Amino acid sequence: MEITGSIQNVRETVKKWRQQGLSVGFVPTMGYLHEGHKSLIVKAVSDNDKVVVSDFVNPIQFGANEDLSTYPRDIELDKKLCEAAGADLIFHPQPDEMYASDFSTYVEAQNVSRELCGRTRPTHFRGVCTVVCKLFHIVMPDRAYFGQKDAQQLAVIRRMVRDLNMDIEIVGCPIVREADGLAKSSRNTYLNEEERKAALALSKAIFYGEEMIRNGERKAKVVLAAMRSIIEEEPLAKIDYVEMTDADSIEPIETAQGRTLTAIAVYIGKTRLIDNFIVDLREVDQS
Ligand code: PAF
Repeated sequence: MEITGSIQNVRETVKKWRQQGLSVGFVPTMGYLHEGHKSLIVKAVSDNDKVVVSDFVNPIQFGANEDLSTYPRDIELDKKLCEAAGADLIFHPQPDEMYASDFSTYVEAQNVSRELCGRTRPTHFRGVCTVVCKLFHIVMPDRAYFGQKDAQQLAVIRRMVRDLNMDIEIVGCPIVREADGLAKSSRNTYLNEEERKAALALSKAIFYGEEMIRNGERKAKVVLAAMRSIIEEEPLAKIDYVEMTDADSIEPIETAQGRTLTAIAVYIGKTRLIDNFIVDLREVDQS
C-alpha cells in the first residue's frame, strides 16, 4: 500500500491503473479511522480492482466555533486499518495542497443542505460538497463509498453527483454500531466514561422509533415525541434536532411515507453526536 500527499502522484497512479483496464473505488474520510470506515473500504475492495482512501481533515466544512483544531488525527493508526482492509493508496494531503491561499470556488447542493444539520451548520455541506467534488476530480473513481450514518451528507452528495452529471456511482453503506448500540464515530473519543454511557440515549431512541414505524405508526409527531422523551430522560443529553424527512430530498414530512429518514443530533456534554434510521415504507407496506 502506498501513501502520498501529492495530487500529482494520485493522478499518475490512477492513470496507470486505468491504462491496465482496472476499476477504481474511492473512500473519502477525515481519518481517525474506525470499524465504520473499515466496512466502507472492505466493500470498496470487494467491488473494485483498486481502492483509494483519502485521509484529510477538511477545514472548510468546520464552522468558526467547531472542533477543527481538536479533531482527532492518527495517521499511523489509519495506515494500519487501510492496509488490513486491503486499500491500495492513501491520499493524505496537507491543507495547502488542497486549497490555494486565494481559493474562492465552492459547490453547494442548496435545498437538500438546508434542514437537519444544515440549520445549525449553515456552511458545512458547502464545505463537504466542495472537497468531495475536488477529490472526485483528483481520483476520478468509478465508485465512491459513504456511510449511511451521515444520512444528510449522503443525500447531498447524491444530489451533487446527479445535478453536475458526475459519472461516479455513489454507494451508501450501513451504519456500524458498537456492541451496545452506539453508532461508531471518530467523535466518540471525546466522550468520558459517564458521557459514553449517556450517549446510549441516541441509539435507544433510534431503535424505539424504528420499531414504532415498523409496527405501523406513521405520524411523525407521535414517533418523534416518543424519541424525544427517551433522550430527555438522560440528564447529560441536549437535543439539537429530532426530525422526520424524505430520505432523498431531506424535506420535513408529517407522515412516514416512501423512503423515510428519521434523524437526530444530540449534544452529550460538549460533543454533538448524530444517528438515524431509514425505513422504506414501500417495502414495509408490501410485506
Ligand atoms: O464524512 C466525512 O468524513 C467527510 O465529511 C468527508 C466526506 C470525507 C468530506 O470531508
